Amino acid sequence: MFQAAAQTVFVSSAAASVYRSVFLVGCRRYCKKTPTKLRISEALSGAELGADVKVQGWVRSVRPQKNNVFLHVNDGSSLQSLQIVGQAKLNDPLLTFGSAVEVTGILKKSPHQKQPVELEAEQIRVVGECNPVDFPFKIKDRHSLEYTRQLPHLRCRTNAFSSLLRIRSEAAAAIHSYFKNNGFLQIHTPIITSNDCEGAGELFKVEPSGPDFSDDEEFFSVPAFLTVSGQLHLEVMSGAFSRVYTFGPTFRAENSQSRRHLAEFFMVEAEISFTESLDDLTKVMEDMFRSATEHVMARCVEDVDLFHRHVTPGHRVKIYLPHRCKWNSLYKASLQLLSAATDWGCDLMTEHEKHLVKHCGNLPVFVTDYPYDLKPFYARDNQDHPRHTAAAVDLLVPGVGELCGGSLREERLNLLMARAGLEDTYSWYLDLRRFGSVPHGGFGLGFERYLQCILGVDNIKDVIPFPRFSHSCML
Ligand code: 4AD
Repeated sequence: MFQAAAQTVFVSSAAASVYRSVFLVGCRRYCKKTPTKLRISEALSGAELGADVKVQGWVRSVRPQKNNVFLHVNDGSSLQSLQIVGQAKLNDPLLTFGSAVEVTGILKKSPHQKQPVELEAEQIRVVGECNPVDFPFKIKDRHSLEYTRQLPHLRCRTNAFSSLLRIRSEAAAAIHSYFKNNGFLQIHTPIITSNDCEGAGELFKVEPSGPDFSDDEEFFSVPAFLTVSGQLHLEVMSGAFSRVYTFGPTFRAENSQSRRHLAEFFMVEAEISFTESLDDLTKVMEDMFRSATEHVMARCVEDVDLFHRHVTPGHRVKIYLPHRCKWNSLYKASLQLLSAATDWGCDLMTEHEKHLVKHCGNLPVFVTDYPYDLKPFYARDNQDHPRHTAAAVDLLVPGVGELCGGSLREERLNLLMARAGLEDTYSWYLDLRRFGSVPHGGFGLGFERYLQCILGVDNIKDVIPFPRFSHSCML
């Protein structure tokens, strides 16, 4: 009985295997395998050579010929576009520069040296039409940054701006890695705040709008603003975690139309406890700059090359990497360089910054020990005479001017209290000095200025996806 059952099982499993083989052969013949969906960068890497694939993107060029149609399709995953070759019958009048397409076919080794692979199209589907007459970018033209700036909703379709956005994304990732690898904890500091950290009054007020709120009703119990810096909140956290950083949007109501100011920009800020020297801060600034820049140079070779060859010709990032920043230990020395251009106690203007950088061989330069009265309430008093200075430092770089600003913080309660008004508005900040205060310091780096610096881009509006500045229209 048991034997019979076993035999039945054997017979039926043999039959099943025959049926399975027939079914699979049939399937191979009649059910075509679903093509593997690839990003253009994956297709270009040649990983799926010989496979049925599907790519989706926007047409960067169309070249119809007698027997074939050639397309270049880009999906933003790399600067390079993928060449598509299709029979002439696949050409479609809607297949134009800027249109969105989905292409299926077989990925093959290209016979041409210019590209490693090409896609032999079996089907080309126009997903989204684009009228080439109305489309503000033209297939043959190289559009200037000034021109593309007028089209913030479309400029990501250009080579230069898509390269910029890939570089920006890698640079941001590199900055996070730097901090992670060096024992810093990321803190999400608030965007809505009641403090004016820098004391410069460049604040945007935050108020509710809508039918549920009357004009005289305060949403918060104190006036609220968009943050000008996450520093004070970072100082709170450095009192427990020693090394903290934040990287987020920052807002300043500066009525400035300059090439290096925005109303909304991204700032990287670090705060380090148990530090008594500006050297410790400048080392972190320098290490972070070098590490992020090396990462970008290694990961965005083609994108950086595009900038160096076509967008900002002559500019080279490499010059920053091997050099230690020159250290100007005294602001006094800086002023002597500037001769009559400025007096003690006057802040450095853009022109002074440029002059200083030029004097230092067109290399980055740290300027330290600023006049005490020029710096915000939190800067540490050097208690020197007759020139009264604060332990503050700015990093100036060629072409941009101030890239980083930082200082040691006043950790001594009595000195901090001697500065006007702090008891009322910043009593919580004074508490940080009452309970376990330690010498500490930190700095902020303008992320857009960093990108300007490494890429040689003249106007800050060309390194941020959607620039906000005074009197600008916004998307
Ligand atoms: O020198 P700032 O004002 O320093 C601070 O806000 C400190 N609380 C930072 C800190 O110590 N945690 O600003 C830092 C940097 C500047 O060096 C500059 O690169 C950039 O932020 N920055 C701007 N970038 C674009 N547009 C603006 N309006 C900017 N204002 C400052």
